[in-house]
Amino acid sequence: MKIISSAALLTVVLFFITETQAQVPSAIIDPAERGYTLQPEQRAYALTQRQLYPSVIFSADEKGLKLDLGDSTLYGRLHYGPAYFDYVNSDYYEARFRSRSDIKKGKGLLEINSYFKKESLSNVNHWTTSGTFGFRLELMRIRDGAPVTLGVFDGRVDFRKTASGYATPLSIVEGPIVGCIQSDHPEWMLIGFDTDRMSTGMIELEEIGVYPDLSVSLHHEITIGNLQPAHRYRYRAVAIVGTDSVITPWMSFKTAPVKGKGTVVFAYSGDGRATTGGGENEYIGVNRTTITQIAKQAFRRGTDFFLFGGDMIGGYTSSAEDFTLMLKAFKTTFSGYMNSVPVYCAVGNHEAHYFGYADARGKKVNIDKYPYDSLSSEAIIAREFIQPSTGPDAYPGMPTYKRNVYGFQYGPVKSIVLNTDYWNTSANAISTFGGSPEGYMLPNQVEWFERELKAAEADPTVKYIVLLAHEPFFPNGGHASDAMWHFGDNTVRSYRAVNGTMTPFDYGVIDMRDRLWEVISRSKKVAAVLGSDEHNYHRSLITNTTPVGVPELDDLNHDGILNDGRFSPDAKFTHPTWFMVCGGAGAPYYTQEPTPWSGAVKKFTAQNNYFIFTANEKKIGLEVFNANGQLLDAVPDLLEVRKK
Ligand SMILES: [Fe+2]
Repeated sequence: MKIISSAALLTVVLFFITETQAQVPSAIIDPAERGYTLQPEQRAYALTQRQLYPSVIFSADEKGLKLDLGDSTLYGRLHYGPAYFDYVNSDYYEARFRSRSDIKKGKGLLEINSYFKKESLSNVNHWTTSGTFGFRLELMRIRDGAPVTLGVFDGRVDFRKTASGYATPLSIVEGPIVGCIQSDHPEWMLIGFDTDRMSTGMIELEEIGVYPDLSVSLHHEITIGNLQPAHRYRYRAVAIVGTDSVITPWMSFKTAPVKGKGTVVFAYSGDGRATTGGGENEYIGVNRTTITQIAKQAFRRGTDFFLFGGDMIGGYTSSAEDFTLMLKAFKTTFSGYMNSVPVYCAVGNHEAHYFGYADARGKKVNIDKYPYDSLSSEAIIAREFIQPSTGPDAYPGMPTYKRNVYGFQYGPVKSIVLNTDYWNTSANAISTFGGSPEGYMLPNQVEWFERELKAAEADPTVKYIVLLAHEPFFPNGGHASDAMWHFGDNTVRSYRAVNGTMTPFDYGVIDMRDRLWEVISRSKKVAAVLGSDEHNYHRSLITNTTPVGVPELDDLNHDGILNDGRFSPDAKFTHPTWFMVCGGAGAPYYTQEPTPWSGAVKKFTAQNNYFIFTANEKKIGLEVFNANGQLLDAVPDLLEVRKK
């Protein structure tokens, strides 16, 4: 199965060229019609994706590979070493740097000869005629006479020895990444990888055979079928162009058990976007330091999958180049984990790729970029992440839900992932141009969710349900001003153009929160509702006595805003239900803020954190660890509170 054929890739390129002339989607009004001017794309990073492709920046040399970034203003260092360091003795692959050289005027040398000298202590992978380097470009530029640090950019380059020196035949620059490993179809899953030249690709399963993708593309996404449930397979990726080919070391993945069976261990964390601190704390929009710590610990704890709660990247960009570069940086950071174990991501507010507008007074408005089927935040996420396509159909003239809203089952656990940052427009412009505020879900997603929950409730193979939405239902530290609360403002909602007239949706964000929570609390199986967005950990027990604010009871002056001093409980919250936030994968920390439901908070800490859930026949339990692996909190049986 492929998501980008070469023809589709060409279409995307054409869209990039003609995007400003693209037809305005029917659900919005073009800000340009109201005196706003489209702002030029702003890039934040010094390199493009292509400038990390070996086929673009490396060429043959008798000593190794010559680097030419095509930009004479760049200086710095080229670090390099084996990409799959000592793979014979590793189960989690990463590069280990061993050598470095200077970059001057955008040029440098990746020297290889020394790795092949008899007395070499560097050739850990015992290369004979070919191999794979991981490389790091540590860059700076002189601006106004002073050096400006541009950060680090990592890549991979495959090489082979030739009669006259070295060559880069073709490189696998991303992946392989496993995806869609789930009990809904334990007999098949997906593996994706990217190459730096148009290639054909295949996945080889050890002692079983090959699964080819014969179409010529930079991206390969291959369906691996005829698999046994709960079985570990060894595999490797192969890419071919002409008479050249490259191959990865052997890796492995484990298929899901049949529905309802097995003990399942899975991780959850969110908000891994960059923070201050320099270096790997701000690696192309990603906090590589913390995500790496968490990914490695989750891997070592034997997790079957990882739920990630959104805000993978700094995002918020008008540049498709930067948006994609950041998403790829997130995947590269998680790469050692994703070689073997799937990561299921939710969309956060930072996953925003937009058209930026400004009026004559400098008022700014951002709207989700179109054409929606190729350039919206949602479409780019769908291209970059291998995730289920089980979400609802979008309304005409709106972005896709495919691969950003979905449910999947793993053993006895059903996970439902929502998109609470869909079709986003700047808060101050939604009622003028159309779009959605943070935390709001349109009726088609709400109804899809209710159907999904009802089906899971009725399915005897589903013992536990876990719900994930980036925007917290009950924020406690950093986002009481938005999420699903907006400081009590129930006038907050989405708008769309109907026959050219801006039309609000029927319900406000707090009505929506309460409707959803009423349904969630009726279910006997919902073990936890997970949020992210707030960069801390908190666990609250929401019951029918928790003061949550009810619009029909508490809006005493009827202005639509719950700020009149009364916050009632919702009597329709049937069972006590855990709401937990784990926005602890590295974004700037937030401490606690007061909310009407502060009394329901059982635990709060601003530490970086991740969750480990363990579900078996009898119960589903939770442990919360900080990024150092210290146990912060535990709930041995999450459904215990519903049995009382
Ligand atoms: Fe967020």
